[in-house]
Amino acid sequence: MEFIDVLNARHSVRAFTGQAVPEAVLRRLLERAAGSPSWSNTQPYQVAVATGPVLEDLRQQLSSRFERLAPLQNAPAWKKALAVLRRDRGLPDGDFRPVQRYPDDLQPRRVATGRGLYELLGIGRKDHQARHRQMAANFRFFDAPAALFLFTHRGLGVYSVLDAGIYLQTLMLAAVDEGLGSCAQGALGLWRSPLERHFEIPSHYQLLCGLSLGYPDLGAPINRFRPEKLPAASLTLARRGGPGGD
Ligand SMILES: Cc1cc2nc3c(=O)[nH]c(=O)nc-3n(C[C@H](O)[C@H](O)[C@H](O)COP(=O)(O)O)c2cc1C
Repeated sequence: MEFIDVLNARHSVRAFTGQAVPEAVLRRLLERAAGSPSWSNTQPYQVAVATGPVLEDLRQQLSSRFERLAPLQNAPAWKKALAVLRRDRGLPDGDFRPVQRYPDDLQPRRVATGRGLYELLGIGRKDHQARHRQMAANFRFFDAPAALFLFTHRGLGVYSVLDAGIYLQTLMLAAVDEGLGSCAQGALGLWRSPLERHFEIPSHYQLLCGLSLGYPDLGAPINRFRPEKLPAASLTLARRGGPGGD
């Protein structure tokens, strides 16, 4: 594909065909992403690739944890405290704290994106069951045949997270070039323990997020979702001193 076509075609894919991703294709993606730039070329990330029975186990483990967590989210404080005391396995054990409250200037963008997705799917604001099902789909990897989990080196702090983001985008663009679709998922960073069962994860690597990967189901309405992006000018800082600067 032409580079510009790859850029334009990339979007989050949340429904996949059952077709497996061949090993050779997965290897190629990882090799291409391995060429990413990073802070002093430290390449401070590791990736876990799940397919087949490992993926099935993770699907089950993460889904059951989500089903335990969901009712706790709007529960009274005492119920939450009890869950902590009992070390309820639904409680997140990821390495990064999920966002609790979005900054006031970002919250409207988040809300607009969520609203757009639910409107496309015909899910009403009060349809809690359908919203729950859509959220739960995250932990089934949207039925993708592969999932990747990205870890960053604790010792490099925010810079390893920056590098991992570049790595992730390279991987997602390389995936488009192979006819694949993907969805980066912060949701897949909620629980680390199910991954420990299958992968040798050094303790100084922190789970950042996951990525569902597979061939896009082109007929699925959810894959038509294209949330609006800000015009580039809105992301560009004005210069002091008016036009032309000082
Ligand atoms: C770091 C990161 C985490 C994300 N987490 C989720 C997630 O947990 N679930 C989900 O459905 N989409 C997730 N997304 C996808 C975003 O919602 C999506 O990128 C955004 O709405 C813009 O849409 P686009 O990717 O189609 O351009 C995530 C994206 C990124 C980059």
